[in-house]
Amino acid sequence: MLKGLICAGGHGTRLMPLTKVTNKHLLPVYNKPMIYYPLETLIAAGVKDILIVSGKEHAGDFLNLLGSGKSFGVKLSYELQEEAGGIAQVVGLAEAFTGNCNLMVALGDNIFEDLESIKKAAEDFRHNPAGAKIFLKEVPDPERFGVAEVKGNAIVNIIEKPTNPKSNLCVTGLYIYDNSVFNKIKTLKPSGRGELEITDVNNAYVSEGSMLYQQVKGDWTDAGTFDTLLRANIIAAKKFANNSNASH
Ligand code: G1P
Repeated sequence: MLKGLICAGGHGTRLMPLTKVTNKHLLPVYNKPMIYYPLETLIAAGVKDILIVSGKEHAGDFLNLLGSGKSFGVKLSYELQEEAGGIAQVVGLAEAFTGNCNLMVALGDNIFEDLESIKKAAEDFRHNPAGAKIFLKEVPDPERFGVAEVKGNAIVNIIEKPTNPKSNLCVTGLYIYDNSVFNKIKTLKPSGRGELEITDVNNAYVSEGSMLYQQVKGDWTDAGTFDTLLRANIIAAKKFANNSNASH
């Protein structure tokens, strides 16, 4: 089975003062709180059992907002991140929740326009549940992200926030992992910014030759800065308009 994790911790410092009294993932993005988008991404992928990890200051707000998940047709669980220690550390907190299942991880501030190809990727993984899969997007500013170096059909390396990016292929905040992810996390050492990096987890799969990738169709953004939050609103408004047109 493929379970889900939404990483909704952190202090959102790049969005101060918007995040002074609330969590970044509760901020509005067009007509919904930000966390609805990763939740909808996982739901579109057919994931029914989802863990939300947040810092303790606003954990109760997530519970009030999303409840048991019944209204979304899924089961939601909640976990606290006592101290911010990186995305890989958050994934590590999902070990007991995941049990012997596999895990699809969504960063709480990532917004994808097209969910169809993501749904297909999750279906493919269920048929062949081994290794990992990441989702790449060409961006004009790769130095802000994890950047993948691709040769032929394979990723040969991922570098986190490179000064001289080898490509413009950003690693977006959506990952599918088999159960070996937890053993990989246990071998990690904190990076220069003092965090357990998701890029190091991904490189562990790259070096054992079990990392697959696909390119993201449609628009994508994260929403951790004022400019990307604005972009997220524009993508969300476009999605809303397209969905309304489709239903008429
Ligand atoms: C994180 C990851 C990075 C990825 C990005 C996508 O960066 O470390 O590899 O490209 O999310 O949103 P952060 O937002 O922590 O700077």
